[in-house]
Amino acid sequence: MNKKLILSFALSGLVLTTTAQTSVVPAIPRDEKIEQKVEALLKKMTLEEKIGQMTELTIDVITKRDNPSKEFQIDEALLDTVIGKYKVGSILNVPQGVAQSKEKWEEIIKKIQDKSMKVMGIPCIYGVDQIHGTTYTLGGTFFPQGINMAATFNRELVREGSRISAYETKAGSIPWTYAPVLDLARDARWPRHWENYGEDCFVNAEMGRESVLGFQGGDPNNIGKQHVAACIKHYMGYGVPVSGKDRTPSSITVQDMREKHFAPFLEGIKAGALSVMVNSAMNNGLPFHANYELLTQWLKEDLNWDGLIVTDWADINNLYTRDKIASSKKEAIKIAINAGIDMSMVPYEWSFCTYLKELVDEGEVPMSRIDDAVRRVLRMKYRLGLFDTPAYNHKDFPLFGGKEHAAAALRAAEESLVLLKNTDGILPLVPGKKLLITGPNANSMRTLNGGWSYSWQGDKADECAADYNTILKSFTNKFGASNIIYEPGVSYKQDGAWWEENTPEIDKAVAAAANADYIIACIGENSYCETPGNLTNLFLSKNQLDLVKALATTGKPIVLVLNEGRPRIINEIEPLAKAVVNAMLPGNYGADALANLLPGDANFSGKMPYTYPRDINSLFTYDYKPCEDLEKMQGAYDYDAVMSVQWAFGYGLSYTTYAYSNLRVDKPEFAANDVLTFTVDVKNTGNRIGKESVLLFSSDLIASLTPDVRRLRAFEKVELRPGETKTVTLKVKASDLAFVGYDGKWILEKGDFRIQTGNQTLNVTCTDTKKWNTPNK
Ligand code: BGC
Repeated sequence: MNKKLILSFALSGLVLTTTAQTSVVPAIPRDEKIEQKVEALLKKMTLEEKIGQMTELTIDVITKRDNPSKEFQIDEALLDTVIGKYKVGSILNVPQGVAQSKEKWEEIIKKIQDKSMKVMGIPCIYGVDQIHGTTYTLGGTFFPQGINMAATFNRELVREGSRISAYETKAGSIPWTYAPVLDLARDARWPRHWENYGEDCFVNAEMGRESVLGFQGGDPNNIGKQHVAACIKHYMGYGVPVSGKDRTPSSITVQDMREKHFAPFLEGIKAGALSVMVNSAMNNGLPFHANYELLTQWLKEDLNWDGLIVTDWADINNLYTRDKIASSKKEAIKIAINAGIDMSMVPYEWSFCTYLKELVDEGEVPMSRIDDAVRRVLRMKYRLGLFDTPAYNHKDFPLFGGKEHAAAALRAAEESLVLLKNTDGILPLVPGKKLLITGPNANSMRTLNGGWSYSWQGDKADECAADYNTILKSFTNKFGASNIIYEPGVSYKQDGAWWEENTPEIDKAVAAAANADYIIACIGENSYCETPGNLTNLFLSKNQLDLVKALATTGKPIVLVLNEGRPRIINEIEPLAKAVVNAMLPGNYGADALANLLPGDANFSGKMPYTYPRDINSLFTYDYKPCEDLEKMQGAYDYDAVMSVQWAFGYGLSYTTYAYSNLRVDKPEFAANDVLTFTVDVKNTGNRIGKESVLLFSSDLIASLTPDVRRLRAFEKVELRPGETKTVTLKVKASDLAFVGYDGKWILEKGDFRIQTGNQTLNVTCTDTKKWNTPNK
């Protein structure tokens, strides 16, 4: 291996803090039988065959072009080139850019597998982005997007959602999903804010673990018929581009990288995640796809993890064409493979195969690196059981898209909506009243789902999800057609760009309000995904702001329903609303959930998974530094620092109220190896049943690096009947209170920590400083 090259890349990125830890217990226990099979097969393979296993192409490459029938068909000649000649080991993506039936998926995958087994005796691995339920299989169950799942603060719902999605994905014979998404949504401008579990690393780690277990089941060596391989992505630090635009540079410190961005990936890998997809962008100038330290050292060596690292879309080539760290396609391949990439999502052509072979022949990529990559690919295929069962019969999955799955998705949607304001108890709605349903999001399946829904941009949802309910339809079902007036006032241009709106008809909506008792204003964004979702202005669109302002002149009470992928600034209209519900992207059952919640047939229990900004230059997260929010100092130099937050992380109302009391800890003084057990009594003091997410925060009062003001350390969700009290137990490992110091090493420092949950606080004291010399505690 060209060590010099590798080292220079490592050093230009982050400070080298790790050393190879070959003695580390494998992150996934090795199954000797699988290992023997992998070795036996590897021995028989030619270099071309090995490189084929490292290649992933999009289904478009084998799509029949001259096809009078509208239905997708594989081109046999192209299949022969791709699998027969280049021995390609993986295909991805959805044919014709739109969801297919499970029967069609089975047919496609069977055909690919037949060819693959005939030519090589090695199955192909097909990958698809089923990121919020079975999003690319028609009739599959859609769950809310990741950001909503985070708002539930309910681990069980996340695990169940991924389990159901795995089952339904497998009904179409697809064995691999590019999920869960574990980026941190720490910049409100970023167009992928909604795909992951919010701004906090602990929530992403907890939900990420649950999702991996849901997708894969409990035994990563034996994924079995009803599960799929997870692919945790995008490794890592994707959610903090300096510009706020997708796939642009970040500038993450070594402390934040290790402590926050790595945390969910570490937890996902501990849960057995079989694969990782790499962040398309770059940090401090070094593209993640070229970062030996992060790919090989942190993941493969430090964790002794034997899973597969796949690139994101075209990202090896991007090292040359976009990022300019390579002078040719071939050099880009050399850099990425030597950095630790195992599979290239090329995705449109096969020159990767030719160039990589040349590089091996020229000694620029060592054979040991190729063998390591191929072992990882084959191991995953064995773990998935693909050699024995390359495809399944969809009839063996009778629960696909059924009632039980729908009920789980509805429950997730209900627990994910966040009640942000409820002045004068305007909600629940009084029965029998007339409702004006207005706004561009009122009658759209597309806006409820967002991107990665039937198609990449989510723009086919109204067609494909016609059997599900928009807000208008759900409310009509719930309250009766005679109680519903519909006048959108503002509408999106269906054939235009996602942000385009038609000429508004605000007067019509205002006139319609005259006959209504309540105004339900459904506002926000149309669907988008990835870079096309980039934004130049975070304020809600002017038409929508004008609509709400005009409606407010009627004096009728307004309920704002925010249906959006990121927090659009609404400070001008928030005071005009009596109630605000943050629906985010709740999926196909989101409108039914809202129709249950607004009249009080269900209770709100969601809490904010991110900080909602009030002003444009106030894009903060809850774990900020003390100097970012200061009271005025005394004296001449009397500046303050104001964080302008509309709604805080963890905030969310309910139709009932809760009282916290009696916060206790078993060890007021502790050392690094201790586990602290906190208990707090939570009482439902209102008159409705409800669920409360109990969040426990710590504040390191003094530390050698300026501490974050607060960090979430534990959460539990409990259901309480009116008057009922439960004692909630929250465990925190003392080592979780450590931070990454200036030298890049974990340290837990002697001193006091303030612990807070609800209105309760107490202090605990660490009696001994401990520093870790290993990269992970
Ligand atoms: C996205 C990934 C996705 C991949 C395959 C990329 O453009 O960034 O999240 O998994 O495409 O569809």
